[in-house]
Amino acid sequence: GKVAVLMGGLSAEREVSLQGGQAVLEALVRRGVDAHGVDVGRDVLSLLQQEQYDRAFIMLHGRGGEDGVIQGALENIGMPYTGCGVAGSALGMDKYRCKLLWAGLGLPTAEFVMLEQAADLERAEALGFPLMIKPSHEGSSIGMAKVESGQQLEEAWRQAAGYDIEVMAERWISGAEYTASILDDQVLPLIRIETPNTFYDYEAKYQADSTAYHCPCGLASDQEEALKRLAGQAFRAVGASGWGRVDIMLDEAGAPYLLEVNTVPGMTSHSLVPMAAREAGIDFDELVWRILLTSGT
Ligand code: DAL
Ligand code: MG
Repeated sequence: GKVAVLMGGLSAEREVSLQGGQAVLEALVRRGVDAHGVDVGRDVLSLLQQEQYDRAFIMLHGRGGEDGVIQGALENIGMPYTGCGVAGSALGMDKYRCKLLWAGLGLPTAEFVMLEQAADLERAEALGFPLMIKPSHEGSSIGMAKVESGQQLEEAWRQAAGYDIEVMAERWISGAEYTASILDDQVLPLIRIETPNTFYDYEAKYQADSTAYHCPCGLASDQEEALKRLAGQAFRAVGASGWGRVDIMLDEAGAPYLLEVNTVPGMTSHSLVPMAAREAGIDFDELVWRILLTSGT
């Protein structure tokens, strides 16, 4: 059938989506699929119907594309799509409620508070500095900042609030960042990310040559297995399915803290899921094909 690779959109991660979408489109075409890139705007549903597409490969990141909105719209027109359903997408895009859910299940995640009013800044300070400030519904580290003092906290809150009506503060974990890629509900080999930046920010993700990716990740195999199990639990806990990525910090004592779930992870040439898949013997084209199959056969 005819496949629409949905990309672009209007979120702050538009550029990342266009790059990944193009890479996915090329892989599908190499595979002989009748695939076409569709830059998503308001008229996307009528376009998909008019041009008689059979299924959608969702390569949209952020709000409108990764949060259940497009997923629900596609359900309404009966069009199969890749990845997570409506509820898992919505929770995966909501760092605050995702962490509430994990905490409720006893899964490890750094302490956090929602910053809604000035009084919440005191509750955040009570967690102890440094803190990480995050818009609750962004991706690619957009709007995030590390803060060391009350004064910086207010500034960072204001900056993050420019991206999102919900902003949260999280206790800073000093240690190493790992990511667990998930394909067909299997957890792929972990990647350890090393950056000279303060954290794995937008620049370190997409622009810097100084970011190092270690896959195999260098952990003892029993520790890696334990983290992979944790990632699988965290993914299923939010109702995610199909494919995705769970980001995790390990502190200096080796204790894990879940950061977030990505239900449409990046697929650019720098991206992590393709790297983990390669380590598992799955090349990029095969990975893309298997993600397509998550839309049903
Ligand atoms: N939000 C970006 C695309 C990622 O998680 O890879
Ligand atoms: Mg993300």
